Amino acid sequence: MAKTIAIANQKGGVGKTTTAINLGASLAAADLRVLIVDLDPQGNCTSGFGIDKSTLGDTIYELLAETAEPNEALCSTALDSLQLLPSTPALIGATVELLEAPWREFRLKRALESFGQQYDFILIDCPPALGILTINALVAADSLLVPVQCEFFALEGLSELMDTLRRVQRSLNPRLEIEGVLLTMHDDRLNLCSQIRQDVRGYFGDQVFKTVVPRNVRLAESPGFGQPILLYAARSKGADSYLELAREILGKPLAQPPTHEPLSLGLTS
Ligand SMILES: Nc1ncnc2c1ncn2[C@@H]1O[C@H](COP(=O)(O)OP(=O)(O)OP(=O)(O)O)[C@@H](O)[C@H]1O
Ligand SMILES: [Mg+2]
Repeated sequence: MAKTIAIANQKGGVGKTTTAINLGASLAAADLRVLIVDLDPQGNCTSGFGIDKSTLGDTIYELLAETAEPNEALCSTALDSLQLLPSTPALIGATVELLEAPWREFRLKRALESFGQQYDFILIDCPPALGILTINALVAADSLLVPVQCEFFALEGLSELMDTLRRVQRSLNPRLEIEGVLLTMHDDRLNLCSQIRQDVRGYFGDQVFKTVVPRNVRLAESPGFGQPILLYAARSKGADSYLELAREILGKPLAQPPTHEPLSLGLTS
């Protein structure tokens, strides 16, 4: 079975999509079979792979509504071993429709189970909210990867995210673990960044990835060219950092979430 990782943080613009695309591409570059699930109505992962949303047939929306077979919605990408389940703004409808639906938290899990042995890794790019879509991702996942942007309000909301993780573990998915916390858009020149790094390490300890993703203009440019960084600028610090993250994930056992409350998160208290 695939290892399924939900990439989530309800804070917007922290690097979830950039991580899904580029971690996915780095794992695929290691000859692993990867599926990326675009679970965000913004569809940034879908356009980040250069897929024209206006030409799409079935998408993740039809899978959640159970009106299409999962295989019918798969899109290929420029990387042979990487496929995508695309999204369009129609997915906004699912957030309303699912609220009344039976087994509403398990729709994604059921859809992904139908892929059987087809993939080594499934990465789920979550929207910036803790609603029914992110709950579906946490129920379907083996682990949670949390990108945290190195900026002033970075730590805000992490306690709610950890509460949600524990609630899902208690009632819907007891095997869910923390894959790791990933510091993104790090700038060595800023004292604030090293302060945030210390605060995040203080709370999450060794659950923070050793890999830190630097702020890198190539990473910001590549979605505009519909390419992961490995195809757009393979010799860049951004590409190096996501290859390093892939190596770290391939070598690392899963960890338990912290049990104490993050009351001493310096910058947010
Ligand atoms: N390491 C980086 N260096 C420079 N720019 C980055 C980096 N990571 C992400 N960005 C840029 O920051 C913006 C937000 O990143 P991204 O879309 O990955 O965040 P997100 O968490 O998925 O956002 P949302 O919550 O809206 O889904 C994008 O314009 C992206 O290109
Ligand atoms: Mg995103």
